[in-house]
Amino acid sequence: MYNSSLMALRPLVRSNSRSYAVKLTEHQAAIMARGLPKRERLRGVQDIIVVASGKGGVGKSTVAANFACSLAKLGKRVGLLDGDIFGPSIPLLMNVHDEPLVNRDNLMIPPQNYNVKCLSMGMLTPPDGAIIWRGPLVMSAIQRLLKGADWSPLDVLVIDTPPGTGDVHLSLTQHAPISGVILVSTPHTAAVEVTLRGAKMYEKLKVPIFGLVENMRYSTCDKCKHRMEFFRPDQSTKGLPKQLISLPLDAHIAECCEEGVPVVVKYPDSDYSELFKQLAQQISDTLDERRNQDLKASSNSSA
Ligand SMILES: Nc1ncnc2c1ncn2[C@@H]1O[C@H](COP(=O)(O)OP(=O)(O)O)[C@@H](O)[C@H]1O
Ligand SMILES: [Mg+2]
Repeated sequence: MYNSSLMALRPLVRSNSRSYAVKLTEHQAAIMARGLPKRERLRGVQDIIVVASGKGGVGKSTVAANFACSLAKLGKRVGLLDGDIFGPSIPLLMNVHDEPLVNRDNLMIPPQNYNVKCLSMGMLTPPDGAIIWRGPLVMSAIQRLLKGADWSPLDVLVIDTPPGTGDVHLSLTQHAPISGVILVSTPHTAAVEVTLRGAKMYEKLKVPIFGLVENMRYSTCDKCKHRMEFFRPDQSTKGLPKQLISLPLDAHIAECCEEGVPVVVKYPDSDYSELFKQLAQQISDTLDERRNQDLKASSNSSA
């Protein structure tokens, strides 16, 4: 399919001189349209939420895993897709390492842990195997994880993404309707600037942004609850979308990532569990509100 559209765009060669078609012919445009991936709803999946950031190491995977578990605690049916093809962390964070089984329709069955169905390239490649892929292969890997798996039925599919705004992000937004994006950033200028760029990309692609999870601005003493700030108050995440929660830098969060038990599972009564619960509740309320508005709009238009 892609090949035929590429063939159609070959330069036109005439006698000794080369002339390049500047405009697409009708035929070429038709082939291109056929070749472009369609944004199709995933069967049995109500909402898709992407967790993204311009920077690596700011806590995207940690947020994605704990957010997914918190949604599950609210009673939602949840899936977690690891979109970080080159640096998958979901198998470690969720303690799911087994290769997925395949059902009769040749769809992968995402293994489940902590009431969350998980799928990652890390389950399909040997732990020490280097993944050396270029753009088109990365895109097809994402498509396979997204559409080659039996996710149904899900209320929410959370997608953890690699840093930046590369092939994975484009491929995701092209292939599936994304209900919204949660951005994650630390207050470091270097992280804020690139995350802002990421936010602009999603705005351009008309994908709604729910808001920002700020990570590691502060830490709270376990004993006396004193709050230590790591940034000046004016070192802000200004310019980024509204803040949903601010997550502390905390040894328990780091420890839980290493152990493969999300902090909201291991310490359900902790302050961080409360923060993740607030995040899950806010997003789920926003989605409900949106659905009600859509229902009203469609009943008004049919009246
Ligand atoms: N709030 C936090 N407190 C302590 N450690 C954290 C926190 N958030 C993330 N980490 C740790 O930082 C590292 C990077 O986090 P990760 O979620 O993998 O980032 P990303 O997915 O953005 O690359 C991990 O080892 C994780 O345990
Ligand atoms: Mg990650």
